Amino acid sequence: INDPRILSEYELPLDKDWEVPRNTVVLGKVLGEGEFGKVVKADCVGVLKRGQSTVAVKMLKDGHTDAEMMALVSEMEIMKVVGKHVNIINLLGCCTQGGPLYVIVEFAPYGSLRDFLRNRPEIITESTNESLEDTGNLTPKDLVSFAYQAAKGMEYLASRHCIHRDLAARNVLVSENFILKIADFGLAKNIETDYYYRKKTSGKLPVRWMAPESLNSMLFTIQTDVWSFGVLLWEIMMLGATPYRNVQGQYLLQHLKAGNRLEKPPSCSLDLYLIMRECWSFYPKGRPSFTVLVKQLEKILTAMT
Ligand code: ADE
Repeated sequence: INDPRILSEYELPLDKDWEVPRNTVVLGKVLGEGEFGKVVKADCVGVLKRGQSTVAVKMLKDGHTDAEMMALVSEMEIMKVVGKHVNIINLLGCCTQGGPLYVIVEFAPYGSLRDFLRNRPEIITESTNESLEDTGNLTPKDLVSFAYQAAKGMEYLASRHCIHRDLAARNVLVSENFILKIADFGLAKNIETDYYYRKKTSGKLPVRWMAPESLNSMLFTIQTDVWSFGVLLWEIMMLGATPYRNVQGQYLLQHLKAGNRLEKPPSCSLDLYLIMRECWSFYPKGRPSFTVLVKQLEKILTAMT
């Protein structure tokens, strides 16, 4: 393992702006596992901002390939380039020297939005002064606030030329004070020059969140992220339900081509449903931008105050 001739034990370049001493990172329980990586809860002692010692650490699993290592390095580099915003999971630091690569990111105590919504079915409709913080109950306004926050995060990523490609409630995390944060955007490609990105390798695809042109031609653009955002809106209003439950993945494209769309969730207002339907315009140009979505959702949200 210490043999410098083994290329798999890479020497990564040191970036002093981000490097954190390895001995200050105390790993805890596993939060999630993906195909080639895992996310572990950790304590990061005395290095980061005061009071913020709980972090999430992304790392590779044993037996990873060189390509997977390069993917994690590229994810970290994309996070550095994208920069900070309240509604995204921000990079806090990394350990690149003398051991496995640790990519240290913000920890979101309430976990994924999908699980959060599934575990909190209490929706209160009668008006109340009790907030989500007080009661743990969700109001219709909380749900619209979630939609708005996700749109803000996506608007920022779009402004940084970052295409997510896997926007879904499972990839949105719930942080302190119920602040929503878009996660895993570093798996996305930065498209400073290319205005679209074609996926070359065939991993598992999030077909139920994919736009027709992604299903058809593996084309991913900011407009296909907008389609996925519409599905995310639907998930929020359906409290974490699975979209197109009665359609098999392989038939989804023809289902959409035939003009079918997800139905209006029972508790969803018409104006909100019309926003979803705009996101699901068959032609990408018919879909709103994230900036327009932010404005529309802001309007609905303030009308609820
Ligand atoms: N699961 C995956 N990433 C996470 C994070 N940053 N915070 C909390 N749970 C997670």
